[in-house]
Amino acid sequence: TTASVDPCQLMVESTDQMSFVQTELRVPASCRDVTLTLKHIGTMPAASMGHNWVLTETSKMRSVAIAGMNESENAYVPKDDARVLAHTTVIGGGESTSITFPTRGLEKGGDYTFFCSFPGHWNIMKGTFVFQ
Ligand code: CO
Repeated sequence: TTASVDPCQLMVESTDQMSFVQTELRVPASCRDVTLTLKHIGTMPAASMGHNWVLTETSKMRSVAIAGMNESENAYVPKDDARVLAHTTVIGGGESTSITFPTRGLEKGGDYTFFCSFPGHWNIMKGTFVFQ
């Protein structure tokens, strides 16, 4: 569950089954910044079941995921790439990571997708990010 007093703070859980528990995240456009916490509620290590949280426009998810495949030193995300709106580090089972990012670059009502860019995960491990 994601019961939270502050609507600008999000929590998403990830699993050993290569999935996010929450497949839709909602942020009011009134939030100037978003703090997102990613938890890995499984037990498998990052080397075999690593997860991160990457935000892009939906139309750019595929190309960003492919560009990040070999970027193991940069959380499988292409460096200094404007298509990447926000991303966390890669974590393994039992770990969590948190980021805060400004919503300045987001368009109210825009079409956004969050996904895990760990190689092989992005095609099924993803969800909708609603900003409105
Ligand atoms: Co993953």
